[in-house]
Amino acid sequence: MSLADRVRFPEFLSRAMTAQQAAALIPHGVNVGMSGFTGAGYPKALPQAIAEHARQEHAQGRPYKINVWTGASTAAECDGVLAEAQAVAQRLPFNTDPKARQAVNAGEIDFIDMHLSHVAQHAWFGFLGPMNVAVIEVLGVTADGLLIPSTAVGNNKTWLEIADKVILEVNTKPPGKMEGMHDIYYGTAIPPRRMPINMTHADDRIGDAYLKVDPAKVIAVVETHKGDRDNVFAVPDENSNRIAAYIIDFLSHEMRMGRLPKDMLPIQSGVGNVANAVLAGLLTGPFENLLGFTEVLQDGMLDLLRAGKMRKASATSISLSAPAYKDFEDNIDFYRERIILRPQEISNHPELVRRLGVIAMNSMIEADIYGNINSTHLMGSAMMNGIGGSGDFARNGYLSFFVTPSVAKNGAISCIVPMCSHVDHTEHDTQIIVTEQGLADLRGLAPRQRARVIIERCAHPDYRPMLEDYLERAQRKGPQHTPHILTEALSWHQRFVDTGSMKAP
Ligand code: COA
Repeated sequence: MSLADRVRFPEFLSRAMTAQQAAALIPHGVNVGMSGFTGAGYPKALPQAIAEHARQEHAQGRPYKINVWTGASTAAECDGVLAEAQAVAQRLPFNTDPKARQAVNAGEIDFIDMHLSHVAQHAWFGFLGPMNVAVIEVLGVTADGLLIPSTAVGNNKTWLEIADKVILEVNTKPPGKMEGMHDIYYGTAIPPRRMPINMTHADDRIGDAYLKVDPAKVIAVVETHKGDRDNVFAVPDENSNRIAAYIIDFLSHEMRMGRLPKDMLPIQSGVGNVANAVLAGLLTGPFENLLGFTEVLQDGMLDLLRAGKMRKASATSISLSAPAYKDFEDNIDFYRERIILRPQEISNHPELVRRLGVIAMNSMIEADIYGNINSTHLMGSAMMNGIGGSGDFARNGYLSFFVTPSVAKNGAISCIVPMCSHVDHTEHDTQIIVTEQGLADLRGLAPRQRARVIIERCAHPDYRPMLEDYLERAQRKGPQHTPHILTEALSWHQRFVDTGSMKAP
């Protein structure tokens, strides 16, 4: 498969060049919008060439750093190499690469952690500044100059619209037969001209299969032939399976109580092993005809589609393990009919999440006894990955689950604490907390009731008496709506920092 097979628009073929030549067109200090969402659809050749260019500039004593905006996380060949070359000044909105994380926490990269549904609109509103260059992975270009999107749509539509200049990275590796899988909505406008988004079912198609670009903006076309990040999922461990079982049981109960329809409601599932365990649980569970309305489609949803348990899945990216990707490629005709890839401002849109009644399931770092959730910061200060899409779904979902094992670091950390060391989701957005110990249904409960249920159902037995003691002493301080002992509320975290364990001496 050559570049000419995929780029059927002659004007663009004449702008083909090497990644090194294209990288030289990106000057120091500019804002660069890159494709990429959860290790899928990110540019593979350009970032490495930019990193090399940065090294050469630094060796000559010249400054070289760019600001990198994406859809969400990329991979070592993008965030990793750029961070290693000290080529990034500012990064938004999400990152999972360990080298970039280290640079973020060392204060070398200014990282802006944003709700994923906010990114495109904040760019349109002008809140983020101008976009000088967009570097977008596509699968090809039609004879009319329309772009065939790749394994992730992310913010590509917006980047292509607002960037002054565009570099296309044409990846000839993913199956060309993905053409037609995408649904790019061009009806968005900024207030006060916004109209309702006309989607009433998770599997509605409301847009076009292609991305558009003004041909005059395209300054370079670069070929690459490389797969996305290979995601490795551990076989779900006992904790993940227990958490999944509580959720499946709860959903069955809600259906029996008439609070969920027979076909359930569209499912959003966060990333990681617990999320995959829940989806595996749905595979053998009693639910049929499921729909996915999520941001990232992982192995578990592919399994549900293949088994006929899930009818259709809507997402913004496909992020798979190597065996699942092979299945996707081998059965592309089957999956093209069942998967819809949308821009992230649509896959994560609060209006749609609320209208469709999405069931949100996201992992967290810690919860406090009142149900506030920390999804991003270790010990209140060190950035892990970012809030991602969890807030888009959690606040607006019909049901919102947050899950975690009850302890981390071999029991030295309790994931249920008196007060969260950082809050991403407030108690108002949290409905159900699940650990391997049990499930706390917080709907309709006031703070002191919530605290008792969370401690009793979700805390690890090693920490339960400490939490009970904290709550009891806090309540004794006098009538309070949300009892706390401020001098002690974060002492568990401080104890971990000082001694390596949250356990009482
Ligand atoms: N305090 C400190 N460290 C903690 C901790 C806590 N309460 N809980 C977990 N950790 C550590 C773990 O020990 C592990 O450390 P290691 O990498 O050194 O082994 C690390 O944090 C990750 O924990 P793990 O249990 O493997 O988490 P995960 O892979 O399930 O990810 C989140 C959990 C919260 C980090 C992840 O889901 C995330 O980034 N969420 C925010 C974005 C999001 O929700 N997106 C959803 C929409 S797709």
